[in-house]
Amino acid sequence: TKVGVVFGGLSVEHEVSVISALQAIKAMDENKYEAIPLYISKKNEWYTGESLTDIEEYKELNDLLQKSEKVILTTNDEGKVVVQKKNVGFFGKKAVTEIDVVFPVIHGTNGEDGSLQGMLEMLQIPYVGCDVFSSAVGMDKVMMKQILNDSGVPIVDYNWFYSTYWLNNQDEIKAETNKIGYPVIVKPANLGSSVGISKAYNDEELEEAINEAIEYSHKIVVEKMIGDLTEVNCSVVGDYEEVESSVLEEVLSSEDILTYEDKYQGGGKGGDASKGMESTNRVIPAEIPEDQTQEVQKLAEQTFKVLGCNGVSRIDFLIDKESQKAYVNEINTIPGSLSFYLWEPTGKDFTQLTDQLLQLALK
Ligand code: DAL
Ligand code: MG
Repeated sequence: TKVGVVFGGLSVEHEVSVISALQAIKAMDENKYEAIPLYISKKNEWYTGESLTDIEEYKELNDLLQKSEKVILTTNDEGKVVVQKKNVGFFGKKAVTEIDVVFPVIHGTNGEDGSLQGMLEMLQIPYVGCDVFSSAVGMDKVMMKQILNDSGVPIVDYNWFYSTYWLNNQDEIKAETNKIGYPVIVKPANLGSSVGISKAYNDEELEEAINEAIEYSHKIVVEKMIGDLTEVNCSVVGDYEEVESSVLEEVLSSEDILTYEDKYQGGGKGGDASKGMESTNRVIPAEIPEDQTQEVQKLAEQTFKVLGCNGVSRIDFLIDKESQKAYVNEINTIPGSLSFYLWEPTGKDFTQLTDQLLQLALK
């Protein structure tokens, strides 16, 4: 089975995606699958080639792209999806290889938001993970909250609006925010990795925070901030029929919001950026009571099902230490490192996880 692993892309999480994808390629069972790397550069050009599977090569990106083949995904006369050379002369050989299934490993914009999934639907090729709808909903914090709220899954108090509305109705938005009660967290509705997110303790800071967030998105969310909290994440694997939840990780951070640096660059705590997500300070399994663990796992499975997910997702929770109540904060339908580290403790190694994901895609 030939697997086109698509990674990189225009998202702010480009580098993290390279790490996740190369880890997944390494983990794939070579007897069953042939991984074809499909790297999308920051200029939105697609490349394939052996060298793209070596993380060291990315240090000299221009050389790496020179060595690689510029390609497009298209269909041949038999309707099979092929990776085809982009620049060939009239008599040149166009097709590089046929592929049977696509494994999207792009975090955020274009990869995790349904865009890539829509392209794959058009090509009529099976792919790993969420479909167009659940990808799109998972990426839009507002739509996700509305659906979860409707299904009785706990989320924190919030308000949302478009940037143009903010520019014309600042007093009203400040009044709404005071109803939620400070402090709050201001977020662009559709970006990952903490980009454009900030805290606000009063109207003045709210104004600053929103003005920053609208640089990134026209849709803004203001959420109540839980003062004393435990952050735990739970991964879920499966489809709408059958799901399984992982052990929990507890995320530790010096700040109340994990910054992009905390997540991917070691956060100044001696972490190692080359390890990507693994450099975050985390405790696995999370040191919280057993009944709370089970409650979080149940909510994670419910979230996955309600949003119609497929493959592997990671659902991130906030637990209010005072009330001990758990709230769903967000879902990552293409989580960093595909959350393999949350499955290993229960005996499912990364090879087994990638195998399960590909089987779900080909079901
Ligand atoms: N969006 C990143 C990769 C994550 O939270 O896993
Ligand atoms: Mg995310």
